[in-house]
Amino acid sequence: MQLTITRPDDWHLHVRDDAALETTVPPTATRFARAIIMPNLKPPIITTLHAQAYRKRILAQVPKGLEFEPLMTLYLTDDTPPEEIETAKASGQIHGIKLYPAGATTHSAAGVTNLRHVYATLDRMEKLGLPLLIHGEVTTSQVDIFERETVFLEQELAPLVERFPALRIVLEHITTQAAVDFILKAPATLAATITAHHLLLNRNDMLAGGIRPHYYCLPILKRERDRQALVAAATSGNPKFFLGTDSAPHRRDTKETACGCAGVFSAPAAIELYAEIFDRANALDKLEGFASFYGADFYRLPRNSTTLTLSKQTWTLPDSYPFDGGEIVPFYAGQPIAWRLGK
Ligand code: NCD
Ligand code: ZN
Repeated sequence: MQLTITRPDDWHLHVRDDAALETTVPPTATRFARAIIMPNLKPPIITTLHAQAYRKRILAQVPKGLEFEPLMTLYLTDDTPPEEIETAKASGQIHGIKLYPAGATTHSAAGVTNLRHVYATLDRMEKLGLPLLIHGEVTTSQVDIFERETVFLEQELAPLVERFPALRIVLEHITTQAAVDFILKAPATLAATITAHHLLLNRNDMLAGGIRPHYYCLPILKRERDRQALVAAATSGNPKFFLGTDSAPHRRDTKETACGCAGVFSAPAAIELYAEIFDRANALDKLEGFASFYGADFYRLPRNSTTLTLSKQTWTLPDSYPFDGGEIVPFYAGQPIAWRLGK
């Protein structure tokens, strides 16, 4: 069986920098026409100039013969001036501003400590039509890690949507039934991305019968009923939900350790895994909208004009790739994958 769809885009991706780009850019550029590039480098990408230089380093790693457009973002800090938003918008290369609540995840120490600090900047984004991309978790240490997303929805997101009714917001990598319900009830200015790993796994997969550090990511995997709600949302054909892998590479030694990093490197089989998920849900006809149309529409970019063909043929990934002076274990290494690229 084969499936040809309009070439997809990845609306949430980490590729890191420098030597790491040799491993991270080719698999994404092979599958996707464009990707929203996360700015959580160390130090973070906080100006348009930095983002443009980073974009060039990414483009330098695109394999010959492939066309790939990195859609850059800026990292919002308490001090991002509204003028930087003007510069970002005018550049035509910055497509969103990322909000990490301070301390929420990998390299988020420079994140926003209180949304009040960025109201003037959000106001300018709303006026200029530059979307806000949100890591939607509260960071208060008293809040249980499995509840950080749901608490964020009520405490932070609901008031934000009310205060900035015209600001387009993407709630990134949603993980709960509560987030699905929130997006469904929200105005059309709100959308959400969903990762392949949150569609495939629940917290038992990560923790029952042994701890699997390569499944550890943020927001953390949730219950089976949450996973089912995400599959229902992704395969529903509702344009408020679209593809964002959150492929987040970390070297093997930094994951297989007493205090491991959060992040799943799913880029090497990303679209194949989404095809498997949609196939299992008898919704292959909904994959193209989710993967290739709704994100572009939300970001007000043209849909891609080329196509990608997938075949239902089992294959397996290598156990690891060289990465950043060490190695990296890809998501689904050693497990059969039902769909592969090509005819
Ligand atoms: C991401 C990373 O490693 O940069 N990690 C993750 O688990 N998703 C950061 C993020 O998106 O939260
Ligand atoms: Zn991410």
